[in-house]
Amino acid sequence: MGEKQRKLLVLYASQTGNALDAAERIGREAERRGCAASIVSTDEFDASSIPHEEAVVFVVSTTGQGDPPDSFKGFWRFLLQRNLGKYWLQRVRFAVFGLGDSGYQKYNFVAKKLDKRLSDLGATTIIEKGLGDDQHPSGYEGTLDPWMLSLWSTLYQINPKYFPKGPDVMIPQDEMIDLPKYRIVYHKRETLEPKLLAESDIIQRARGMSPGKLSKDTSKPDCFLKMTRNEVLTKAGSTKDVRHFEFQFSSSTIGYEVGDVVEILPSQNPSAIDAFIERCDLDPGSFITVRRSETENSDKEVITEVPIKLKTFVELTMDVTSASPRRYFFEVMSFYATAEHEKERLQYFASPEGRDDLYNYNQKERRSVLEVLEDFPSVQVPFEWLVQLVPPLKPRAFSISSSPLAHPAQVHLTVSIVSWITPYKRTRKGLCSSWLASLTPEQEINIPVWFHKGSLPAPPESLPLILVGPGTGCAPFRGFIAERAVQAQSSPIAPVMFFFGCRNKDTDFLYRDLWESHAREGGMLSEEKGGGFYTAFSRDQPKKVYVQHKMREMSKKVWDLLCDGAAVYVAGSSTQMPSDVMSALEEIVSEETGGSKEIASRWLKALEKAGRYHVEAWS
Ligand code: 2AM
Repeated sequence: MGEKQRKLLVLYASQTGNALDAAERIGREAERRGCAASIVSTDEFDASSIPHEEAVVFVVSTTGQGDPPDSFKGFWRFLLQRNLGKYWLQRVRFAVFGLGDSGYQKYNFVAKKLDKRLSDLGATTIIEKGLGDDQHPSGYEGTLDPWMLSLWSTLYQINPKYFPKGPDVMIPQDEMIDLPKYRIVYHKRETLEPKLLAESDIIQRARGMSPGKLSKDTSKPDCFLKMTRNEVLTKAGSTKDVRHFEFQFSSSTIGYEVGDVVEILPSQNPSAIDAFIERCDLDPGSFITVRRSETENSDKEVITEVPIKLKTFVELTMDVTSASPRRYFFEVMSFYATAEHEKERLQYFASPEGRDDLYNYNQKERRSVLEVLEDFPSVQVPFEWLVQLVPPLKPRAFSISSSPLAHPAQVHLTVSIVSWITPYKRTRKGLCSSWLASLTPEQEINIPVWFHKGSLPAPPESLPLILVGPGTGCAPFRGFIAERAVQAQSSPIAPVMFFFGCRNKDTDFLYRDLWESHAREGGMLSEEKGGGFYTAFSRDQPKKVYVQHKMREMSKKVWDLLCDGAAVYVAGSSTQMPSDVMSALEEIVSEETGGSKEIASRWLKALEKAGRYHVEAWS
């Protein structure tokens, strides 16, 4: 949609792509009602020009512990400038829709902060902010749908020009199939230079062309790793399968610190890729480049002229086997369905009435694109649309469990192999973890990875530590403790208290020998060194015992160490655990100081501000 005629600007900040989906839906729904809209990422929009907009819808997600998406950071910094003043946005109307997870403490934090800041800058709210919640039975869409309806009717009341035919009059679906945003250029094989690209260049090129790309995906992998060890840590009878993986660098060695995160690009099952290519009637050997269609910001796109094989593009960028397609995919499918009953079902799925049924069929069952396509055999979706709508293949992040000091030129990971049963009793597996679990060192597979900082900064050796890491949450602390054990050989080190938890002592006690040897006399976690090792086996007795219960039992020692300047590090795979640990600490502080819970909570907030409280949680 051209810049000049637009009536509505949708600005989004997305980390995983969900906010982008939501923004695109808002834009599409507006256009279907005759209101021209542009959808732009906050890192591609010049924030200083917001005052020139009439109506802006912001769609922002909150990740992890209340963090904004990377693409929001610069934009937000701009908005926070003092000199903007309280009239800066006085001509602008806005509405904020947030995506978050109420399982986390700082639920929709970014949306709430943005909403307040825009009001402070003089902008007028169109409607109260909408807060999408991952915990809602139909995901964020459960909130988005009614929120959008109220947005349209309020905009119409403000000025009918937004919807000349009224906010409820929709252009019929069949007449209004949008054009795909991308265009595929097929290259004749014989005209291609026989140019051999390095593996990392191919990955960068493919991912750079992929529409699902998020800024970090366009960079080359930092390096490739080769697996050298794949060991099951859990014992027979455990409800879990947790592995210890070791890797060495296949090419150049990358420096990292304890607590850092490595992102792995998983490989999909080759036979599923072949099945997808066949189902979609594609030529796997053809060479392609992907370009934005002329109408869509084509000037902004860097066009790469070196084509890559269609099959490679699919393998590296399109998640056909593990992620569920979004609702729009069903809508586009309905357009291409030739069997009437399939068309009807797809149209129902894409309609507001069919939302819950679609959620049950699609997300809850974690139906893959390939499975959905197989369920609707009359549909043949053009490749342009598939490129746009198949969920992007995303690298998966893991906390590193090694120390570069203790394990030079190696990377270790502690990974729970994800699998679950859907409501229709289908077994589903996590793509990356189950792929890693299937690898053996003998295969010598090159695994593309990116390293980056997580939320756990490497602690200096003089800093006393309180570590709380149930389950695979122990991963980063294995690195911390290994590093300190090396440092201890040459200099005095500060005490470490480590709280570990798992379901059963006999089957899930990850790295038991390691922790116990450090806890023995004179060891890193020993009493005489001022530290300690404490375990909570949640299911070894009728009543659950968790790490926070053990912390409460050690109340005085925890408090004393905090008074000695200790930093608290919490890591784990439970969304509830970090806030439970925080509550336990509040109780400890208030009990030991005799102060109220409020004072204790403020004290802990100050601890966090001072950089002495860190949380890394994953689900
Ligand atoms: P559960 O699965 O028996 O409930 C590692 O996953 C350990 O963390 C398990 O013992 C698990 O217990 C426990 N866990 C689950 N929820 C937790 C919470 N809110 N706080 C602390 N530990 C928790």
